[in-house]
Amino acid sequence: MYVCVCLGVNDKAIKAAIEAGATTVDAVTQRTCAGSECGSCRPEIASMIEAELASGCSRRHLAVVDDDLRADEDQQSAA
Ligand code: FES
Repeated sequence: MYVCVCLGVNDKAIKAAIEAGATTVDAVTQRTCAGSECGSCRPEIASMIEAELASGCSRRHLAVVDDDLRADEDQQSAA
């Protein structure tokens, strides 16, 4: 589904940008160009960011959790 019709950016590209760490509309725009023409898609991009962050299941979040688990395992094996 296209989110940004002006530039042909779909929801998968937007979600990928969010998962890669874009947590603001400007950051998503920087990575995908979505929202850089008429701007009418910017509220939808903001909603997608909010939903993605609220779900707590982005790859970035999972990577942080994975790093925390590895740090715990390292501490346990060192003790
Ligand atoms: S629809 Fe995204 S900039 Fe116009």
